[in-house]
Amino acid sequence: MKYNKIMKKRISILGSTGSIGTQALEVIERLSDKFEIISLTAGRNIDLLNEQIAKFHPKSVCVSADADKVIGCNKVLTGTEGLDEICSNKENDIILVAVSGRIGLEPTITAIKNGINIALANKETLVMAGDIVMPLAKENGVSIVPVDSEHCAIHQCIKDISQVDKLIITASGGPFLNKTVEDMKNATVEQALAHPRWHMGKKITIDSATLMNKGLEVIEAHHLFNMPYDKIEVVVHPQSVVHSAIEYVDGSVIAQLGLPSMHIPIQYAICYPERYEGIKSKSFSFSQIARLDFQEPDFEKFPFLNLAYNAGRTGGTATVALNGADEEAVFAFLKGKIKLYDIYEITEKMYSSHKPILNPTLEEIFAVDKEIREKTKELIYGRVECLSI
Ligand SMILES: NC(=O)c1ccc[n+]([C@@H]2O[C@H](COP(=O)([O-])OP(=O)(O)OC[C@H]3O[C@@H](n4cnc5c(N)ncnc54)[C@H](OP(=O)(O)O)[C@@H]3O)[C@@H](O)[C@H]2O)c1
Repeated sequence: MKYNKIMKKRISILGSTGSIGTQALEVIERLSDKFEIISLTAGRNIDLLNEQIAKFHPKSVCVSADADKVIGCNKVLTGTEGLDEICSNKENDIILVAVSGRIGLEPTITAIKNGINIALANKETLVMAGDIVMPLAKENGVSIVPVDSEHCAIHQCIKDISQVDKLIITASGGPFLNKTVEDMKNATVEQALAHPRWHMGKKITIDSATLMNKGLEVIEAHHLFNMPYDKIEVVVHPQSVVHSAIEYVDGSVIAQLGLPSMHIPIQYAICYPERYEGIKSKSFSFSQIARLDFQEPDFEKFPFLNLAYNAGRTGGTATVALNGADEEAVFAFLKGKIKLYDIYEITEKMYSSHKPILNPTLEEIFAVDKEIREKTKELIYGRVECLSI
C-alpha cells in the first residue's frame, strides 16, 4: 500500500460535476484531513468545475469542451487524451470513476494498468468489458471497490466469496412501480425523472424507471463477484433500506442496511479498507422505519430485466450492444424524440440484430459500441413518427 493512515490518500475524481462526483466532494470536504485532491474532471459544466477548483485546488483538471473558460488551475487538459493523462498519473492512490456512460471504460483501464486503485461508480465499464477489466485489475494488484449502493452492500457482506450461494440485489422499483403499463406508455420525461428515492443523473434515472438499471447492475454484479447469473436474484424493495444481501451456502442471509444516501457507499468505496465517521442526517432506527416490503419484479411490465439477463448469459459483445442501444435510446427519450416504452423496443431490436463476438478484444468492443450507436441513431432519427408498442 502506498499510503498509511497518517498520510493523506491522493484521489482524482472523473465526473466531479455529476451527482456522484459532487456528493464525493461533500464526503471529501468533511474528511479533508484524510484526502488530497489530485485531479478533477468535468464534461461541460465549467461553472461548477471552477467553483470546485477554488475550493479543492486540484493540480490538474480535464474538460470535454470550453477549456478556455476554466479558471484557477494551471493545468487544463481536454477530452479522452486528458482523461488518459490523469489516469496515468501515479501520484494517485485512488481514482473515483463517476463519469456516466461508455466514456468511463478507457480511463479505468489506464488507471488499472498504472496500478491505481479504483472506486467504481461507472457501471458501464463492467457491462461493456467486465471480462477484460476484472482480470486486468487482478493482474495489476488493483482493487475495484463498487460505489453502486447494491454492489457496495454486497462487498460489505462478503467475507469469503467461495461460501456464497446467491446474491440478492434490491430494486426500489422506480416511479412506475405501482403504475400501469398504460401510465408508463404515456409518461412524460418529468414523470420518468421523478425517482421516489434517489436523486441521480438523468441517464441512470431513466434506466431506473424502466428497470434497465437493475439489469445493468445484475451484469455488474456478475463481473465484480464472479457469480453465475442463475445465482443473482433481483427483489423489489420500495423503501431502499436493505441495499442488497447475500445468501451463504448454509442458508444464512447477510444484508446491508442504511438510510438511502449515496454518501455512505461513496465514502465506503473511497475510504476502503478504513471507515470514518460519516455524513449522517439522522441515526438509523428500525422502529422509525417500521416496515420493509419485498416483492418479485414484474418481468412483463419491465422487460428490460429479462433482456439484461439474456445479454449477460450470452456474454461477449451482447452486453455492449444492449448498453449502447439503450444509452442512445435514453438520450432520444430525454430529448422528447421517442416515448418511454420505445426505449425498450428500440434496444431490443438493436440487440436482437447484433451477432455477438465472444471473448472480444477491447478494439472489438469499441467497434461494436460505435456501430450499434450509429444504427440506433439511424433507427430513431431516421423516422418521422415515434415507435410505440
Ligand atoms: N447518481 C447515482 O446515485 C448513481 C448511483 C450508482 C451508480 N451511478 C453511476 O455513476 C455514474 C455517474 O452517474 P451520475 O448520476 O453521477 O451521472 P451525472 O450526474 O450525469 O454525472 C456525469 C458526470 O460525467 C461527466 N461527463 C458526462 N459525459 C462526459 C464526457 N463525454 N466527457 C467527460 N465527462 C463527461 C459529467 O460532466 P458535466 O456534468 O460537467 O457535463 C458529470 O460530471 C453512472 O455510470 C451511473 O450509472 C450513479
